Amino acid sequence: MRKVYILFFACIVTIPLLAQHDKEKMDAFITDLMNRMTLEEKIGQMNLPSDGDIITGLAENSNITQKIRKGQVGGMFNIKGVEKIREIQRIAVEESRMKIPMLFGMDVIHGYETTFPIPLGLSCSWDMELIEESARIAAAEASADGINWTFSPMLDICRDPRWGRISEGNGEDSYLGGQIAKAMVRGYQGADNSFATNRQILACAKHFALYGASEAGRDYNTVDMSRIRMYNEYFYPYQAAVEAGVGSIMASFNVVDGVPAHGNQWLLTEVLRNQWHFNGFVVADYGGISEMSNHGLGDLQTVSALALNAGLDMDMVSEGYLNTLARSLEEGKVTQAQIDQACRYVLEAKYKLGLFEDPYKYCDASRAEKEIYTPENRAVARRTAAESFVLLKNEGDILPLTGQKTIAVVGPLADTRSNMPGTWSVAANLETPATVVEGIQAVAGDQVKVLYAKGSNLTSDPVLEANATIFGRSLNRDNRTEEELRAEALAIAAQADVIVAAVGESSEMSGESSSRADIGIPDVQQRLLQELLKTGKPVVMVLFTGRPLTMVWEDENVPSILNVWFGGSEAAYAIGDVLFGKVNPGGKLTSTFPRHIGQIPVYYNHLSTGRPASDRAFEKFRSNYLDEKNAPLYPFGYGLSYTQFTYSDITLDKTTLTPQGEVTASVTVTNTGTYAGKETVQLYIRDVVASISRPVKELKGFEKIYLEPGESQTVRFTIGTDLLKFYNSDLEYVYEPGEFEVMIGGNSRDVKSATFVLQ
Ligand code: BGC
Repeated sequence: MRKVYILFFACIVTIPLLAQHDKEKMDAFITDLMNRMTLEEKIGQMNLPSDGDIITGLAENSNITQKIRKGQVGGMFNIKGVEKIREIQRIAVEESRMKIPMLFGMDVIHGYETTFPIPLGLSCSWDMELIEESARIAAAEASADGINWTFSPMLDICRDPRWGRISEGNGEDSYLGGQIAKAMVRGYQGADNSFATNRQILACAKHFALYGASEAGRDYNTVDMSRIRMYNEYFYPYQAAVEAGVGSIMASFNVVDGVPAHGNQWLLTEVLRNQWHFNGFVVADYGGISEMSNHGLGDLQTVSALALNAGLDMDMVSEGYLNTLARSLEEGKVTQAQIDQACRYVLEAKYKLGLFEDPYKYCDASRAEKEIYTPENRAVARRTAAESFVLLKNEGDILPLTGQKTIAVVGPLADTRSNMPGTWSVAANLETPATVVEGIQAVAGDQVKVLYAKGSNLTSDPVLEANATIFGRSLNRDNRTEEELRAEALAIAAQADVIVAAVGESSEMSGESSSRADIGIPDVQQRLLQELLKTGKPVVMVLFTGRPLTMVWEDENVPSILNVWFGGSEAAYAIGDVLFGKVNPGGKLTSTFPRHIGQIPVYYNHLSTGRPASDRAFEKFRSNYLDEKNAPLYPFGYGLSYTQFTYSDITLDKTTLTPQGEVTASVTVTNTGTYAGKETVQLYIRDVVASISRPVKELKGFEKIYLEPGESQTVRFTIGTDLLKFYNSDLEYVYEPGEFEVMIGGNSRDVKSATFVLQ
């Protein structure tokens, strides 16, 4: 099936959450409710406390239970289990005065118990239907277990792979990020945002805004960016989520223009409400309000008032609203209207979800037994994992494996279950995923002998390893010496026809609070690879990672590299599927792999400079390095296949475009290899002359096609002025006449080119 995604930046059409007459009904209902609420109860709706003692059992008179009874809690999060949630909901609707049902949130960011690839991996599928389907399944499973709100999608553009949370997002490109934002919101909330059944849940776009641009890639660090860059390069995915009708937005920990996002009125009110017409509620991130004190903005009362004034509706964990807003109201630091508005947004979300009609809508325990981690869902997850893998190198066509009788599987990531689902898989069962060894054996069948040896620990640094294997993600550190571990691996390698080395990062080496200053393959693993290569046997590197890595040595020396990210609960089987050619890999990178840490940030859609450099050799007085190329190791959009695709030159149906017209750019893509496969054909555009400096190229469309060997297909992209617009120095969204270059190819580097002129 052919799918075309073209972005219309200009069309700010917000998909309404409710038809007009339903909105009037909702308004009347909530007005009536709020007329009967005390100030304390209103502020209670704006309180999202930490899970606290309730998670370990519902102590009859626990602190949190008492708060729920007093109407001081609007929702809770990261509680697993429908029975537990049902009981908490019962306390809210039977034992509190106003009987208002609660929201139950969770970080379901890449699946529930059936887990899908980490978002960065998922984005490499470039398959919007599959991404939407993964979100739909995640919502179905989470809702079967009592959850009605997910803290996803994460839409932070990131160009710095040192930042561990790059794993939770969709890479470096805002156009692609915007398409994924829409697909995920549709998947979670349903196509019409009506929450018609109990299988759709509220989504939460996060982290608003710019969290992925933290300085030096260090988590929670300062962000400083011009507004023109915000609008042209970072905002679009959040805006796309708003256009798709996302029900909630989470503020980010960083400063924006010097003011923490949680207290930033320009961001939360001017941009989000006034410019984008967001009509859901804004929730704080974990402790984000009280952390403004650490940012240096004052005590809890001051920063809580600041947050409310800025437009933040629900306080996660800080309890600054609960404990200080009434006083701030008395002292004139906030207004009753502000409290009413924030409370109303939260109540509206509950209304839209249908919780006032049935507070137990998401508490149907019979669903939990039947609808979670089902064979059907797992089959989709297996297929999705394979689509997310990126073949980085395949010299001598070592892959796919055919005819080998004995396979040596080595590496610290070859025999772990808990590490397979990936970071932020809060609900996953860490005991059930198959290991790489098991996945390979299952797909290879009994005729093939699969041998295993660990070969090395994750790193030579036990402290790093301890921090990289938290939350039950144990890699069972082996206390033998490096040499002993390698000797065992070499002994099984000697008996094998091919060596599969499962190496890279552990799942907790990326994700929140997992920034790295050195993003190479850890030392002991590289030494293991060196020894394995010396055997002269073919080596396939199965790379686990939550971020782009600097792996020049590996690229130069290891013949085959398959990047499998963290593929989720079914990843091991998907690895088997791809290694043995049952699935031909077609994933394409959505974030650039640097050659060297010193190149960061390195990304494909950079501006030109006054001294552009060629990459052939160092040239004095050019924008380049004395000691490293400008080019990355693997560019954005890159990924190989077991087959080859060739591209014809671009044909334009005209070379002059009027503002009302369209140009059609076509290429013919041919599968010249021997395997059927999928190719993502990418359209890039450059605005050659403009009133501001424009990127050397920007993704503006893509189409994923499937071709049998020898088959050709013509792919057409229609280009109108909507694809040529940008924010100018006055932050007006405009197109400007002049020359444009159209580029089409299988990655951002290797493209065909043609030009047209906009009159
Ligand atoms: C993270 C959010 C997450 C929240 C709730 C925070 O630490 O930044 O992404 O949704 O915790 O678990």
